[in-house]
Amino acid sequence: MLIRGDEMENTNQNYLESLIEWGERIKDILKEKNIPEEELQDWTIQIEDWQKTVQLQMHEERANSQDIANIKEEGKRILDSIKGQKGTPINDSHISYGKHKLPELPYAYDALEPFISEDIMRLHHDEHHKSYVDGLNKAEDALYSTKKDREPIKHWLREQAFHGSGHYLHTIFWNNVSPNSSKNPTGEFLMQLDQDFGSFKNFKTLFTETAASVEGVGWAVLVWEPRSGRLAIQSFEKHQMFHIADTIPLLVLDMWEHAYYLQYQTDKRSYIQNWWNVVNWDDVSKRYTEARKLKWKLS
Ligand SMILES: [Fe+2]
Repeated sequence: MLIRGDEMENTNQNYLESLIEWGERIKDILKEKNIPEEELQDWTIQIEDWQKTVQLQMHEERANSQDIANIKEEGKRILDSIKGQKGTPINDSHISYGKHKLPELPYAYDALEPFISEDIMRLHHDEHHKSYVDGLNKAEDALYSTKKDREPIKHWLREQAFHGSGHYLHTIFWNNVSPNSSKNPTGEFLMQLDQDFGSFKNFKTLFTETAASVEGVGWAVLVWEPRSGRLAIQSFEKHQMFHIADTIPLLVLDMWEHAYYLQYQTDKRSYIQNWWNVVNWDDVSKRYTEARKLKWKLS
């Protein structure tokens, strides 16, 4: 188990990695803007120099909070200076069409051993998840670019739904598990589980049965339903079918055979039972708290 100092180090490392990714996003956005080549080069150099500083900090044995604050300040200064240029509106709060990237795993490939093997994690993340990211980018390039032929539109819409849902669900899935699982939910989220399912045990039984009912390609999913103000359990066929719209996934379990077959073969119940050992309840609870902030009129 990690000690508190190590957890902080991991948090700092994750934050620094997110800064590098943010820099990449800004560079992508700038490339799409119609700005003079010289200005583009100047900003690209500034961002890349700043990213080098971030990388150096990542290699420090212990993070220095003042150094991290300085890095954050410098990133903000660069962005403000870009925004301050006349005619260069920039919005870093979105990912442009066709520019999705495979997110890093928030832990090592072997961190979930023995419950989920390193081999599965490598194949699952590096091959399967990547193919959803690539497929989504291709579909978005076809759908949203004015230069390309988007026909037949139904094909690209189908591709966008399949790969887009695959990408987003896997992103939730990686964060929904952790080598440091607390094993049980707590606090307000536990109270909500009790209220809606009678007990955590009842919820676990229903979720397990739902997962076991998935036939080879699909997911078991706990969602928050803003329309009804309660939790619900669903299964998704493939990634995008058989589910209710306007709900927010909180906890997802990948029941595609690629998620367990290499280690568990046809014994999907053992996979499900072992997966419960690595559920990241802090993440699920955080998603629940954020989802509750969305206030729809109940209907
Ligand atoms: Fe998967």
